[in-house]
Amino acid sequence: MAYSQMEAWIREFPRQGLWTPEGPAEIPVGDIRHVVLAGMGGSAVGGDLVQALFEPDLAVPFRVHRDYGLPPLPEGTLTVVVSYSGNTEETLSAFAEARRRGFPVVAASSGGRLREEARQAGIPWFVLPEGYAPRATLGYMLTLLTHLFARLRVLPPEAPHRLQEAFRWLASQEEAMTREDALPRELAEKYYLRLPLLYASRRFFPVVERWRAQLNENAKTLAHTASLPEMNHNEIAGLYHPHRVLAATWATFLHFPEDPPRLKARIQHTAELIYEDVLGWNVIQPEGPTIEARFLWSLWVGDWTSLYLARAYEEDPVAIPRITELKTRLQKEHPA
Ligand code: PA5
Repeated sequence: MAYSQMEAWIREFPRQGLWTPEGPAEIPVGDIRHVVLAGMGGSAVGGDLVQALFEPDLAVPFRVHRDYGLPPLPEGTLTVVVSYSGNTEETLSAFAEARRRGFPVVAASSGGRLREEARQAGIPWFVLPEGYAPRATLGYMLTLLTHLFARLRVLPPEAPHRLQEAFRWLASQEEAMTREDALPRELAEKYYLRLPLLYASRRFFPVVERWRAQLNENAKTLAHTASLPEMNHNEIAGLYHPHRVLAATWATFLHFPEDPPRLKARIQHTAELIYEDVLGWNVIQPEGPTIEARFLWSLWVGDWTSLYLARAYEEDPVAIPRITELKTRLQKEHPA
């Protein structure tokens, strides 16, 4: 049941990209010079991914904040507060801090305290569809953020259309994700009983971070991530010990055509150098006619892989008992 629920959500990903966000008619935020997105886990990842995908197009500096409060930020920073449940204490604390500093704020949730507090304060609030696990709303999150940023001129006006076209194309890839010899099934086999080491360029690192989080929450497995070229200057030196752990690792390199030209050679040499210390490695070259399509394709491969690995481990891909229990304990002992 839980398996088929997560499977349905993952299958739905391309359709989520055809959604039109409903929000306030007016967003009175003034002249935007800086943007911060505050959120945690599945509600923050959309920010990193939009930043990676649209990096060359962003009109102003943008960062994601995953913690209580807010870091030092320029005056008037637009603060986009995202919490799927609307009840995440770190995110609510960032919301309060943005208001205390007098920053323009936009909020998004499926309900919860964030909706109530935004309504009371007259802050623009966007609704996210109810009834999902937060991480299963990535298509909605990407769509919402791209629409919002285009509307606020943080992204070019055509960005939502480019993304939507890519989601349309992605729908044609369902069979390639699910058939017997599909790449995600192959990856799940490689990762089964092993520790995945996931590598990508600095720009596309959020994609492997999303893979890691999906593997953590859906398949209940550890996964490690690092970015290139940075890992060529430290981690590569450490891939010797503990030998017994490394003997059960599988290294995957995600290589986009948009990566710096020297990355191809770096991946090849890195893989050759670590070859004897890891169990195996592979390179994935994202498929699709545009950067947006390749980006979504990569995300979908990670989602399906996490689902197939959940099945191999006989884990429920929907339930996240430790996260739920931790939130309950904190709420009971120290209500926010
Ligand atoms: O995937 C999840 O369920 C988590 O990573 C949540 O997104 C995270 O705990 C934050 O909760 P929320 O998205 O409701 O703010």
